[in-house]
Amino acid sequence: MFDPVSTPDVQALVYASFAQLRHCRYLLLRIQDPAAARRWLRQDAVMGLLKARGQLGRETAQDEALAVAFTHTGLLRLGLQEDADFPFPSAFREGMNQPDRARALADANVETWRWGDLPGEQRQDVHLLLAHFRRTPFDEQGPLSAPALQAGGLELVQSVPTCPAFIERNEDTKESRLFEPFGFRDGLTQPVLHSTAERSRRLQQRREIDREMADDSVVADGEFVLGLPNEYGDLSYAPDDARWPSAGASANAPPHFGSHGSYLVVRHIRQHVDRFEAFDAAHPPPREGAPSLTEQMVGRRKDGAPLVQQPMPPADLDGFRFRVNDAEGFQCPLGSHIRRANPRDTLGSDVRSGVANAKLHRLIRRGRVYAGECQQADHGACGHADGRRGCGKGLFFIALNADLDRQFEFVQQRWIAHPQFADLDNESDPLLGGRGEAAFSVQSPTAGTRTTGLPAFTELVGGGYFFLPGLAALRFLAETEPAPGPPAQ
Ligand code: HEM
Repeated sequence: MFDPVSTPDVQALVYASFAQLRHCRYLLLRIQDPAAARRWLRQDAVMGLLKARGQLGRETAQDEALAVAFTHTGLLRLGLQEDADFPFPSAFREGMNQPDRARALADANVETWRWGDLPGEQRQDVHLLLAHFRRTPFDEQGPLSAPALQAGGLELVQSVPTCPAFIERNEDTKESRLFEPFGFRDGLTQPVLHSTAERSRRLQQRREIDREMADDSVVADGEFVLGLPNEYGDLSYAPDDARWPSAGASANAPPHFGSHGSYLVVRHIRQHVDRFEAFDAAHPPPREGAPSLTEQMVGRRKDGAPLVQQPMPPADLDGFRFRVNDAEGFQCPLGSHIRRANPRDTLGSDVRSGVANAKLHRLIRRGRVYAGECQQADHGACGHADGRRGCGKGLFFIALNADLDRQFEFVQQRWIAHPQFADLDNESDPLLGGRGEAAFSVQSPTAGTRTTGLPAFTELVGGGYFFLPGLAALRFLAETEPAPGPPAQ
């Protein structure tokens, strides 16, 4: 049984969205001077902002948090000496932008992306991602200010501000509601990590509804944290640095450099809100109370209610299955975004095997809505004047997983982008596109419909794979001089 006390150094982003820290910015950086960057990283002012899993009980008392993640090149530049017996997996080493991989992921126009994990014609490669969260608006002070980063040998490729107007926070109940720029509630379905207290809370909450269904979302920690038991009952693979202290040298060190780390999939997705709203207006619900076409495309009502009828009163917006309640897709179309992203109980010979299969391909989503031009320095009244929620331009999508191949890449290639997903005839994810036609079918017991010529509602403008080390590994990187040899490129 996994003991959470033994992994206090997992970066808290795995276990927390920090939604109470409504202000957030993503800093994409290149490491120009590795020695200065190591010094910058090991300052108390930086290390003090990093939040560990072990500190999460006190999360609500915190005003600021930081998560730090590296591309493969970034790790090499800081001195990583990859262990020949335990190398990083090829998906991470090669990067999201590697041409064969980009093709397999159905990523279009990768050469014109603004940034990535590999350099391209117009694309700048980044080495380091800082996700910086605060309760109050940012000022240009402290270790993440532009001059401090520059002094730390770090070149800012892009600072991506987010728009806090997309997080509704109820300070009395301590609950946060997330929305995305097309107007839908987001962040509703997340895997529940086996070790978290949330599991028992949710089970308690749902016991009277359907206890077994509550277990559908409980996933082994090792699906997201390296070196912990995963859904196969194995310890998820953790790569190593040849310089990492052996167990004898340091009793407290996790077994490998990669232990307690995670992989971050970052997709910087521009959303064409005007196109989406025009399409929505042109496709009203066929009758009062029926879902609109855009709600069918997502698979939920705008307020988050699932289109699939829930077996019991919907105390929980995540308490539904497809095979049992909607095998034909008459309620929630087969090609909707949420069915493609997580087919739940459908892929197996029965509910149990379907759920077990889906658990091998889950993602923790931690992205936020990034901001466009905004006159409101702190987004206090942002967007509300024109009836929109905020100045959101798109989603800075972040997914965490322990196995890029089996989790993100599988979901993207086999489900989201696959033209024959659920035996559909050459279609793509209606929000994200893919390898099929830009079409969307709505199944019906009488006559179904197929809408063709869907506009491109979203567009990728950047993205890459990052490694989020455990805090012991991060300290090690910051404090260990690289082995002598030619400098990493
Ligand atoms: C701008 C792009 C995107 C938009 C607007 C969007 C929107 C949404 C919305 C509204 C939901 C339903 C709310 C919820 O269940 O949390 C959802 C669910 C989800 N999305 Fe996306 N999404 C986007 C990109 C992506 C990408 C790139 C992926 C992964 C490749 C993804 C994976 C998921 C997953 C796994 C779920 C949960 C499905 C479930 O378990 O029921 N999304 N998305």
